[in-house]
Amino acid sequence: MLDTLIQRVHWSMKKTDANLSQEPPIVYVAPPTLDREHAHRRAHELDVEELHWLGRRGYSIGWIGQIANRTPPSLAEAAWSSDTPIVLPQFVAKEVARARSMITTSQQLLHRILDDEDCADIFLTEPYVSRLTPHFELLASSHDESDQQEIETLEFDVVDEEEVVAENIWVKLSWLSYAQDDASLRFRFSFGIVGYEDVASDFPRQAYAGELTEAIFPESEIVSHNERLNETIRHITAVENLAFVERIVYFNAPNGGAQFHQDVERGHIGVVYAQLHGRTAWLALSKSNLITEIKHFITRSDVDQVLSEIIPDRESRQTLYRRAAAATELSAYLDDEENDPLEALINRTPAFTQQLIANGYAYILSPGDVILLPQHSVDRCAWHSVFCLDQFPGQALSFAIRQRPQPRSRDKL
Ligand SMILES: [Fe+2]
Repeated sequence: MLDTLIQRVHWSMKKTDANLSQEPPIVYVAPPTLDREHAHRRAHELDVEELHWLGRRGYSIGWIGQIANRTPPSLAEAAWSSDTPIVLPQFVAKEVARARSMITTSQQLLHRILDDEDCADIFLTEPYVSRLTPHFELLASSHDESDQQEIETLEFDVVDEEEVVAENIWVKLSWLSYAQDDASLRFRFSFGIVGYEDVASDFPRQAYAGELTEAIFPESEIVSHNERLNETIRHITAVENLAFVERIVYFNAPNGGAQFHQDVERGHIGVVYAQLHGRTAWLALSKSNLITEIKHFITRSDVDQVLSEIIPDRESRQTLYRRAAAATELSAYLDDEENDPLEALINRTPAFTQQLIANGYAYILSPGDVILLPQHSVDRCAWHSVFCLDQFPGQALSFAIRQRPQPRSRDKL
């Protein structure tokens, strides 16, 4: 049964598989300049099931849709070792249905946060207070004035039989952007001082941060206590003793999402993302395929004309062409924080998105869908970009996957 599951998991290995002739299920319907009515007409001609507007924080990418009755092809081999994202359609659909009341509670929590309620106060009321005490003792609530994206950080001690067994386990609430019209936010669970601590070297505290996630968002069990999913991830990653750490619960809101990025971190091998509520559109592909796509795009005969609208400064476009000419240099440019022209190309250029969609790198995730993102190293990882497709905030779990250093030492995770 596992082989059957894995065989239907993903689409983007198409270039190395006999299913090359099949068309991708997601299509780029029309550029953003077309109005909704005309886009609908075009979608109808293309046999598109549902039309979606793709945009983020004021940038318009275009109209996309899923072709009716076109399902991802069956593929025999797992993509993990080639850094390719793996979609598991509806893999946790039953679990999501069973967790409906927990997800509704989390939506209520989100809306209370959006209404400016203090999270520490909320956690002193039910259902949170019963779930947190006596194991997690809320020590402090803080707000870092220098971090404009931070909403609130709550710090806990972990208490076992009246003894403190771990300190400074925290959940940090942050906006996903500075944009006023993007209400996307996340709850990130970790410990210690951000940026200074080698979190991978302290598995017990990583595990306690995971337990804190489950106390606040018990629907986390959809991933962490799901033997069928765990067995599949074990098979795909060839990691026998799995742990889910550095957990993030996302609420992607209209006009929000995440720009193209990777999630490489020492000690982690990848990320499992499960959509629980609402839908997201993804562009996701291995770094090597992203490099190939960028190089291909800049060889278009009309590239300068296309990019002049997105990157008006001629010198910036020349920098992009020069640094994108060779794969090694382009790889370093992707990792460079000072790469505005490249960032504009991959995030805000409708024609580039159109090319990625045409080449099969787009996905729509609905509640119950899972995507696995290999993150072996900065050179061998899956890059991804996320868009909210609904008029309301969705919810998703995003957990880093690592090898458990001491098998069976903490059976709860
Ligand atoms: Fe990510």
